[in-house]
Amino acid sequence: MRVPIPVKVSAFALLVIGAYTYVANSIPQIQSVPPQELSLEAGSVTREQLVKAGEGIFKGKGTCEVCHAIGQKGTRAPDLAGIGAAAGKRKPGVTANAYLIESLLEPGAHLVEGYPNIMPRADRPPIGLNRSELWAVTAFLESLGGTVAVKLEDIPKDAGAVAGGAGGPVAELKMPGDPKAGQAIFMGKGACIACHKAGAIGASPLGPDLSQIARIQTADYIMAKILNPTAMGTVAGFPPNLMPPTLGQTLTAREFVDLMSFLLTLKGEAPASTAKK
Ligand code: HEC
Ligand code: HEC
Repeated sequence: MRVPIPVKVSAFALLVIGAYTYVANSIPQIQSVPPQELSLEAGSVTREQLVKAGEGIFKGKGTCEVCHAIGQKGTRAPDLAGIGAAAGKRKPGVTANAYLIESLLEPGAHLVEGYPNIMPRADRPPIGLNRSELWAVTAFLESLGGTVAVKLEDIPKDAGAVAGGAGGPVAELKMPGDPKAGQAIFMGKGACIACHKAGAIGASPLGPDLSQIARIQTADYIMAKILNPTAMGTVAGFPPNLMPPTLGQTLTAREFVDLMSFLLTLKGEAPASTAKK
């Protein structure tokens, strides 16, 4: 936990949840790779096939499109139109290739101006892309105005080592709380519903739509955002300091764990390209 916690939500609740996150992150790849994973390493693949595969991942399993719309501003994340060319000018001496790979594996290393550090690592849950998928997505990003030059060898060997994949066993891990009780907190005591939509409930556009929050964000981020919203920056396109800062004092540990259990059920509709067997 990197943020100071205003403690009524006890250290116990955080420990319990922390343990779950730890378990999720330490499950070895062998158990968690979804069967329909992309594997391009074996055969030869044309540049077009690679870019096409990358586009599918961008819109599907990668959940990139939930935050980044190409050719559209005002969303949670920067417009990626033309990123293939722009990437080469982001950091002096860093090639487009290297910058794009870094932005997937270490998103906080360079922040686009005006955006908070909220992009999750693409090779960790809940996104959890494997090495081939990272390769394909990088090729797709390069194809947006740039030159497709990325090779599989450019993706670090250990990238994707703990990937679970959206919808994989890791993402299915249950929180120890009661999601039903958590939904009641969301609608009642927590008053989240006054500002947030969550699937079928809520409608207010004051805060971001949380209907897919568990597909695009880590449990760590969601917890920190509730306990100390300003420390996590402000989601682009939304007003700062509107999210109540006192939830860490007003919710009990039990209520917090239940609320988290509910939020982690919010996975929206799985796009067609990630439909399960
Ligand atoms: C939870 C929302 C979210 C998701 C999901 C997400 N991103 Fe991002 N991304 C951001 C934000 C916010 C930034 C800007 C801050 C930063 O630079 O880290 C960003 C920055 C980037 C950048 C750098 C853009 C630039 O102009 O320099 C790239 C490239 C990128 N994301 C690609 C992706 C890809 C590919 C995926 C899917 C595998 C993805 N992102 C998933 C939120 C997200
Ligand atoms: C008065 C309005 C308001 C209430 C009540 C509120 N929020 Fe928020 N929330 C916001 C706004 C505005 C943002 C985006 C700006 C920011 O980042 O602070 C936000 C951001 C978030 C985010 C980050 C979303 C993302 O896409 O990264 C989460 C998670 C969240 N809120 C959860 C909750 C929960 C859970 C509750 C109830 C316990 C709640 N909020 C109550 C206004 C509110």
